[in-house]
Amino acid sequence: NNAGLIIDKAYRLAEVDPRLYSSFIEHLGRAVYGGIYDPGHPEADDAGFRRDVANLIRDIGVPLIRYPGGNFVSGYNWEDGVGPVEERPSRLDLAWRSIEPNKVGTNEFIEWARGIGSDVMMAVNLGTRGVDAARHLLEYCNHPGGTQYSDLRVAHGYKEPHRIKTWCLGNEMDGPWQIGQKTAAEYGRLASETAKAMRLVDPGIELVACGSSFRSMPTYAEWEAAVLDHTYEQVDYLSLHTYYGNADNDTANYLARSLDMDHFIREIIAVCDYIKAKQRSRKTLHLSFDEWNVWFHTLESDKQVAPWQHAPELLEDCYTFEDALMVGSMLITMLNHADRVKIACLAQLVNAIAPIMTETGGRAWKQTIYYPYLHASLYGRGTVLVPVLNCEKYDCKDYTDVPQLDTAIVYNEAQEELTIFAVNKSLVESNKLVCDVRGFAGYRVIEQIVMTSGDVKAVNTADAPDSVLPHRAHDAKVDDGRLNAVLPALSWNVIRLR
Ligand code: AHR
Repeated sequence: NNAGLIIDKAYRLAEVDPRLYSSFIEHLGRAVYGGIYDPGHPEADDAGFRRDVANLIRDIGVPLIRYPGGNFVSGYNWEDGVGPVEERPSRLDLAWRSIEPNKVGTNEFIEWARGIGSDVMMAVNLGTRGVDAARHLLEYCNHPGGTQYSDLRVAHGYKEPHRIKTWCLGNEMDGPWQIGQKTAAEYGRLASETAKAMRLVDPGIELVACGSSFRSMPTYAEWEAAVLDHTYEQVDYLSLHTYYGNADNDTANYLARSLDMDHFIREIIAVCDYIKAKQRSRKTLHLSFDEWNVWFHTLESDKQVAPWQHAPELLEDCYTFEDALMVGSMLITMLNHADRVKIACLAQLVNAIAPIMTETGGRAWKQTIYYPYLHASLYGRGTVLVPVLNCEKYDCKDYTDVPQLDTAIVYNEAQEELTIFAVNKSLVESNKLVCDVRGFAGYRVIEQIVMTSGDVKAVNTADAPDSVLPHRAHDAKVDDGRLNAVLPALSWNVIRLR
């Protein structure tokens, strides 16, 4: 097939907020214990965190990591996780029905994250707790000293405040699975009062209100409208969460689900702007897509995991090649909404639905989805240009007129670099892409990266960590203001020009 793409410096959508490449570590399964933290491991540093795992994260350049949950936060007492480790209690974590020993808590996590160049997006518990616990945690983290909680932090060995800027007001509070689930009115009021108190403690913070847990929630859209009715002026972002999967083993239909993500973002923007109109507000709300990924491989098998274990193997999805394409399409979708989506967290980062896997005490490796995430974070910084794309379309079970190609264009003016990200979703047809780049006189292809596989179900494992890898290609060329490139059937492509 042939496809055409017009790239023009004048079609600017928005600057990419680097926090679009954020991630998430929850106290869940082996994400923390046996994942980032493994004191018995030969690679462990003095604090017990694995250096090899830290390096894999550092390579991606993850600007912000959401912590400590997720569902976990809705039953978490932050006080359990600070102070002398030997005095910390073990608790029943009701969210994942596991044992939480509290060996890692707020201070250790922040120190670890900052050590790998990431900031922390902290979530407060609005499930079992409320205004008081939230304001005290904020005081503990951000107040310089001279008060009970700030002095407690100093006594715990952290003289300087942590200066955590971005805070989530709870997690998925509409979900029946959530400890302390709330109605939209209950949550809206609580979030609004918590926001008020937190801003009095530290006016410099940013706040994220919970949107629906996913687009098919029965209260979807009404939830957002009702919550924002209470919180619009007090928060900076509204959260979106979504996970996709290929449970039906229908690749074409699966990959088309990036359209669902696109509709989801558009609908939430519409709700935000409706409340803006209703309240005659001058403020435009931004979106925090603070949980997104593929998650389906372990949904059934996890039901068999025995409760009350410490660090059980939970949510350890082993990602296929087609999952990497889906992650690539989701990244492209969010880039093309960079004017409103300012934060996005790949959920999660290590072991639990993660790009990085470890054996407790053993090896670490990169899953297939590591690569599109890496490429987007490395090369997707700058200004998003609106892609004017003309390509073939297909129909599948749940969608019609699905473009075979997904494309996003990022222009890094400072480095004089132009990057085209593209997924070819066609199962059989390669696409000859012709891009009009006449506005980029003198630009040449400096790198072409392609991920393909003869087997859509190919995976990377500890024993075969390199089964699915990106490779260099060399067919992309600029000629007379036109970039020509071949995008193979079922492929992830990164074409960099300078
Ligand atoms: O990321 C896994 C879980 O998915 C999170 O704890 C929860 O917020 C969501 O339902």
